[in-house]
Amino acid sequence: MTTTNPSQTPRPSVFTARRQFIQLGLAAVGAVWLGTWLQSLLFPSQNTSQAAQPVSFPLADLPVGGTKAISYGGLPVLVLRTPEDLRAFSLVCTHLGCTVQWQAGGKEFYCPCHGGRYDEFGDVLSGPPPIPLEQIPVQVKGQTVTVGEM
Ligand code: FES
Repeated sequence: MTTTNPSQTPRPSVFTARRQFIQLGLAAVGAVWLGTWLQSLLFPSQNTSQAAQPVSFPLADLPVGGTKAISYGGLPVLVLRTPEDLRAFSLVCTHLGCTVQWQAGGKEFYCPCHGGRYDEFGDVLSGPPPIPLEQIPVQVKGQTVTVGEM
């Protein structure tokens, strides 16, 4: 029978410890990058509203029943004017970020990437999108429409 003296147990070499330290550091950097990427994917409104400046245009540019495409914070946004109100939505799909398309006939947004569908209020109708489209605030003062936080 062989006995092992605890003082003779092999210790990790300096190179093994250094390699483990580097691997741990790379894993930590990867985890931070992944967390940041997921946050921007899942919560695009935080990125949009922090960097975006309000966009204004004449109310006459948007007749009742019409739509107007604008860029807000560098992202595509569609403003809808119904007989009741004006609404603005980010056209960035909440699934994987494709650009959704407004389909006036069906009064819904359609994502061509994976078939996601949203209603005219931005709520998910079907498909993989996990949350509604981001709604952007809209104000009408006089004859001017302003989209975005003021
Ligand atoms: S990216 Fe829109 S449904 Fe997948």
